[in-house]
Amino acid sequence: MNRQFRLKRRPVGRVTRDDFDLVEAPVPTPGPGQAVARNLYLSLDPTNRIWMSDMDQYLPPVALGEVMRGGGVGTIVASNNPDYQVGDTVNGLLGWQDYCLIGAPGELFPPTVIPQGLPIPMTALMGACGMTGLTAYFGLIELGQPKAGDTVVVSAAAGAVGTVVGQIAKIKGCRVVGIAGGKKKCDFLTRELGFDAAVDYKAADWREQLKAATPDGVDVNFENVGGEIMEAVVERMNLFSRMPLCGMISTYNDANPPRYDLTPFLMKRIKLQGFIVLDFKDRYIEGSMQLAQWLLEGKLKAQETVVDGLETAPETLNMLFDGGNIGKLIVKIADAA
Ligand SMILES: NC(=O)c1ccc[n+]([C@@H]2O[C@H](COP(=O)([O-])OP(=O)(O)OC[C@H]3O[C@@H](n4cnc5c(N)ncnc54)[C@H](OP(=O)(O)O)[C@@H]3O)[C@@H](O)[C@H]2O)c1
Repeated sequence: MNRQFRLKRRPVGRVTRDDFDLVEAPVPTPGPGQAVARNLYLSLDPTNRIWMSDMDQYLPPVALGEVMRGGGVGTIVASNNPDYQVGDTVNGLLGWQDYCLIGAPGELFPPTVIPQGLPIPMTALMGACGMTGLTAYFGLIELGQPKAGDTVVVSAAAGAVGTVVGQIAKIKGCRVVGIAGGKKKCDFLTRELGFDAAVDYKAADWREQLKAATPDGVDVNFENVGGEIMEAVVERMNLFSRMPLCGMISTYNDANPPRYDLTPFLMKRIKLQGFIVLDFKDRYIEGSMQLAQWLLEGKLKAQETVVDGLETAPETLNMLFDGGNIGKLIVKIADAA
């Protein structure tokens, strides 16, 4: 059988299991030009929460009754499409389900076949060398324009994107300051990943910590969180600094997200640009090759939190909002054959 999480209603605030129907459908049979993947890993991402809502967004919202959209890695188990051979590893929007019918009507992007024998763990295809790594890479390099000696601040620093942003900034010779919740995560950033400083935003004195960690101000703010953390970093930003706006996770569960004062962007001529990793889709191969090379050279560590069982997906997603993950959050669905 094919277990599928179908979106039953649009969540209000945090996601709950009751927002979905968990149904058992037959394993799909491929029609002409179609293929079937056995899903092995599911990538959980803050944007899943956005896709569940009907706010204006960069992809169509998941329709009520539709299988919940989600990235993942799987193996082709049946195929009537010469682009997919049985046994191939595929990476793409495989959904919150055990099996994905590739080439089904309404498919947004066909999954990509991963070259055989790649010396990269499957989970890194979603994390450090996959979409989250590419987000960090293009957001920082193209929009942040970091130069050696710059101070780069990244929020949600111990998460999937943040850990990669900080490590790339170190490779580029920057002073790197991460903002994360709790001493354990802050210690991890400085001791394990080589960040120069970490600010624990859950500590009462976090604003003083931020000031002390950025004595020369901030040249690049890689923004993942929004809210008062973003405002405090903007206060520390230098003239002609850059702010790639990657995400605002602190507000994704809010019906009425805050509005911001843009005056500092004018006064300090800060270059602010929102982006979605899809903007760089023509350059994914270049980005993945560079990330994979750094991984293999030991310059980039791929951090992951892996939770067992497709059935845990709704609760596991909330770990992103509770800070329960370090690095890329992944659900393991099945063992590779
Ligand atoms: N633009 C794009 O194409 C793109 C692509 C991927 C991701 N993103 C964005 O990048 C950001 C990070 O995504 P990710 O996949 O790497 O997730 P992640 O950082 O692995 O997980 C989210 C982290 O955010 C922190 N957080 C949650 N609520 C918070 C709050 N209210 N205040 C401060 N920190 C909070 C938590 O860490 P703590 O324990 O430190 O609180 C949590 O671990 C998100 O905003 C996401 O939407 C954008």
